[in-house]
Amino acid sequence: MKVLFVCLGNICRSPTAEIVFREIVAREAPDLGIEIDSAGTAAYHVGSPPDSRSRQAALRRGYDMSALRARVVETQDFSLYDLILAMDRQNFDTLKQRAPTAARERIRMFLEFAPDAEVTDVPDPYYGGPNGFEEVLDLIEAAARGLLQHIRTEARRA
Ligand code: 4NP
Repeated sequence: MKVLFVCLGNICRSPTAEIVFREIVAREAPDLGIEIDSAGTAAYHVGSPPDSRSRQAALRRGYDMSALRARVVETQDFSLYDLILAMDRQNFDTLKQRAPTAARERIRMFLEFAPDAEVTDVPDPYYGGPNGFEEVLDLIEAAARGLLQHIRTEARRA
């Protein structure tokens, strides 16, 4: 099972999702062979480490994002990944437009896996205050738990 998290810049939300999900999988399901990556639909920050505000907020919860570097979604991602999870509707729409028809159903909204969340988009924290980064982490931690549950259920069914 290969999972790709996607936001706009790949410096705030999707690398946060990558690191949080990596941590949960390493702790709770190392046997499932889940591969995890993240990418952005825009190329502004390619090669950059995650935003320092994301890194600091994540580190306060024990997640080290320092080794990550931004990249863009590439055509081959649509054939490589089983689940391509968009952080918000804008990136979901962009992915659907770029994807070959056969890959479209593998593109989902990440917060589908956090059914109790009051929002469907992980809000873009880039131009907001520090609370935005905490909200991003809260939403991502909830959805990451739901996602692992979903993958476990699918694995049992297979
Ligand atoms: P991300 O946040 O999509 O969560 O990585 C953003 C990062 C950069 C920009 C927008 C959103 N930007 O406009 O540069």
